Amino acid sequence: TRVLVLNGPNLGRLGRRQPEIYGHTTYDELVELCVGWGRDLGLEVDVRQTNHEGVLLDWLNDAADEGTPVVLNAAAWTHYSLALYDACAQLTAPLVEVHISEPRQRAEEFRHISHVEPHAAATISGRGIDGYRQALEVLAGR
Ligand code: DQA
Repeated sequence: TRVLVLNGPNLGRLGRRQPEIYGHTTYDELVELCVGWGRDLGLEVDVRQTNHEGVLLDWLNDAADEGTPVVLNAAAWTHYSLALYDACAQLTAPLVEVHISEPRQRAEEFRHISHVEPHAAATISGRGIDGYRQALEVLAGR
């Protein structure tokens, strides 16, 4: 099974960006880890990251057309993008939401709402990079 692992803004700087919150694993390492975890689970994993919201929307629209399962860390867009809400709403294959940190435990109020969660089969947050492995496990089990 082919699976998309889609990452939103600023996640390309993983490992360098606020490591006290997001850890020291780099984005390149995340890609390798996800591909390896997927292989172990019998999934063909395609990992992507963009800082451009329309690009993410195009990927989600393609996933809807193709019935592709998605692991999504939409980063800050999670909290305010209604276009993202609509794009997630149309997905037919399972969607699993991931956050490295636990947004609901963080001080900024704006992180306490998710426009992805209503459409997600599962949400995994606060587990660090391992959350991506857990998300792939959820998809492999479905
Ligand atoms: C994040 C949490 C978001 O609130 C934040 O905007 C991010 C990363 C996470 O993985 O913990 O960029 O999605």
